[in-house]
Amino acid sequence: MLGFVTSGFTGSVTADIISGLVGAGILTVLSGLVRWMIQKRTERQIPLKGQYLTSYEDREGDGQIIKRKATATLKQRGQHITGVTSNLDDNRSWNIDINLVRDRYLIGTYSSNDKADGSIGMIFLDRRGDTGELHGLWAGYDPHSNQIESGHYNFRRFTPPTIAILTPDRAREAMAILGRELGDQYVTDHDIMEYVSRPDALAETAINTDGRVMAVSISEMIDIEDFQGLFGQHLDAVRKVVPGFSLQTFGLFKSIAVSERYKGRGVGTILLRQALNWFEKQKATTIVSLAWESDGVCFAQGILESVGFERKLRLERFWYEDSTAKGYQCPSCGNPCICTANIYFLTS
Ligand SMILES: CC(C)(COP(=O)(O)OP(=O)(O)OC[C@H]1O[C@@H](n2cnc3c(N)ncnc32)[C@H](O)[C@@H]1OP(=O)(O)O)[C@@H](O)C(=O)NCCC(=O)NCCS
Repeated sequence: MLGFVTSGFTGSVTADIISGLVGAGILTVLSGLVRWMIQKRTERQIPLKGQYLTSYEDREGDGQIIKRKATATLKQRGQHITGVTSNLDDNRSWNIDINLVRDRYLIGTYSSNDKADGSIGMIFLDRRGDTGELHGLWAGYDPHSNQIESGHYNFRRFTPPTIAILTPDRAREAMAILGRELGDQYVTDHDIMEYVSRPDALAETAINTDGRVMAVSISEMIDIEDFQGLFGQHLDAVRKVVPGFSLQTFGLFKSIAVSERYKGRGVGTILLRQALNWFEKQKATTIVSLAWESDGVCFAQGILESVGFERKLRLERFWYEDSTAKGYQCPSCGNPCICTANIYFLTS
């Protein structure tokens, strides 16, 4: 009898435990599901995952504040964002661990990937509107200066474009961008068809997800006659700033134009890096680029300097005669063009 009661009691306890466990299991699965659904909703409504171009203020050894550039790749799990950021110029990198607060602010930490570096600190970013841009501040301990440093910190979205050689069927699209950004017929219809077919020239395009051209760049190998044609009366001045001028094999990064709505997303830099790979294959030892400056702003300065170009000369009213002879309209000053040319060199 006693045995029967005990086994009945034990059986009902076991059943209770099992149903308790099942209930707890179902609750765990349900709360996990709810958490997962909330995470997914946040990821859909406030997508932060992806690649970014970032810039941040940093202090040099001499105390000067400079703008550093870095890439960042972020992963998102609901409100929790992790990722890695790497400097463009020296490849130093940091882990980022931040949380989305009130659907707008991103607050968290960064820490160096290199134990010998040891820099660590805080990040505060404000996500304004739907542009995907994040603006804010960083502050942290820098073991090199043994100080707390801080500065502005900005993130811009980056979607890598498809790069394609310019083909004749895309020449009209490319010409429209070149015309808008550099002046109508600064690069002529005839020029573009030549660049498309010449083996010692490279005309490349960046294509968006709809298959439309969003940027164009033109590069070519040049000899001393081309140099003479390009610089004319300034040739001697140019010779002086290039050590071993007559021994160099020159490439010219001639033109680059990015459609207005795609500017500032890394497209120009990607085309420039592609061109540099091509120049390397052509065995160019020095690459020259003429960067246009208007009202003190040189648009290509950032991208050229980020890959190592150095400005060696400034030539005022450089395109004055050329624009008068050819009649093109400079987008900044019309015709004749009174803009300054910044002459940049990159020597391998
Ligand atoms: C100049 C021009 C070609 C630049 O193209 P762009 O696609 O806007 O340039 P990017 O987006 O690559 O670079 C913009 C900035 O982001 C930076 N950047 C690029 N890639 C980056 C990256 N991976 N991480 C962080 N920063 C990056 C660049 O260094 C540049 O810095 P800056 O703000 O100091 O200038 C474009 O503005 C243009 O077409 N201008 C009109 C025509 C012109 O002036 N052409 C040059 C004379 S031939």
